[in-house]
Amino acid sequence: MIDLPYDRAVALLRAGELVAFPTETVYGLGADASNPEAVKKIFAAKQRPADHPLIVHLADAAQIADWALNVPEEAKVLANAFWPGPMTLILKKQAHVSDTVTGGQDTVGLRIPDHPVAHELLSAFGGGVAAPSANRFGRISPTTAHDVREELGDAVALVLEGDACDVGIESTIIDLSRDEIVILRPGMIGARAIGAVLGHMPRMRMANEKAPRVSGSLSAHYAPRTAMRYATREEIRNAPHDVAVLTRASEIPAGRYAMCIDAPFDPQGYARELYSSLRALDTSGAREILVETLPDEQGWEAIHDRLGRAVTGSGQPERTV
Ligand code: TXA
Ligand code: MG
Repeated sequence: MIDLPYDRAVALLRAGELVAFPTETVYGLGADASNPEAVKKIFAAKQRPADHPLIVHLADAAQIADWALNVPEEAKVLANAFWPGPMTLILKKQAHVSDTVTGGQDTVGLRIPDHPVAHELLSAFGGGVAAPSANRFGRISPTTAHDVREELGDAVALVLEGDACDVGIESTIIDLSRDEIVILRPGMIGARAIGAVLGHMPRMRMANEKAPRVSGSLSAHYAPRTAMRYATREEIRNAPHDVAVLTRASEIPAGRYAMCIDAPFDPQGYARELYSSLRALDTSGAREILVETLPDEQGWEAIHDRLGRAVTGSGQPERTV
């Protein structure tokens, strides 16, 4: 009998097991969102605090009504514009949505990913798949099946393989559950694009604002184990030889360092390769990772956000919520 990967993945999900799968942002660690016992396994595998809510992934926008209540017009407009794609909407939840998924909140995060493997899996499964990024809590999100196995080992029953995660960093999270529309986590769908579709600019969550437990809002997150900081091109040129560097089309002689990765010039390319670059630099044995400072321009906001959290940390996420 041929063991088709999707048949096996769906059977595992139905049996309450975990299945990791690629999306266009990063790999997700999935469980049947309607089975709280299965969802609990995600928290155990990731060593994630149980009060952090999870995004429910769906195959089709028609399924929103199965999970959300009073879907506002703006949600439909955004769904039409950006789904399938790297956007998560926070909406008031239906009564049946488990506290294990929502962290006890009255809202639920929904996303329709734009990746053929994720789409096949979600369509074949039919229901919602709760999935955080498939890394251990506080660590760099995985963008390859190999990275997932390295992060989670035997804690995951099956890792579906897929083409590269084209976007490379996590989805933009937009909260539509309150009076005011707020971007809780920036992503490669930027505030301007969202504003253009809505007809008004959404507000960005402020750094000191008490977020409804967005784990990426912890001050240290997405972090390599090696100490990491920003440095100017000049500092990098003069740096000692035992550091690893992430430059940007810089023509800095690579052989000088423990490792040197020359990242793409444009924000889309930079984001796509960011996490795999950080993983490689982290294993180089360098004393420190130096990241060349980035332009303070439109399009780079989400990259600044992720790197800003990664540079403050030295490995251990510090809990602020
Ligand atoms: O691109 C992505 O969003 C990836 C892929 C796998 O879809 N997923 C992802 O999941 O980044 P995770 O768990 O690593 O981050 C999801 C964020 C968390 O910070 C969580 O707090 C927030 O979404 N979130 C989920 N449900 C929420 C809710 N009801 N209210 C506020 N924040 C919520
Ligand atoms: Mg994550």
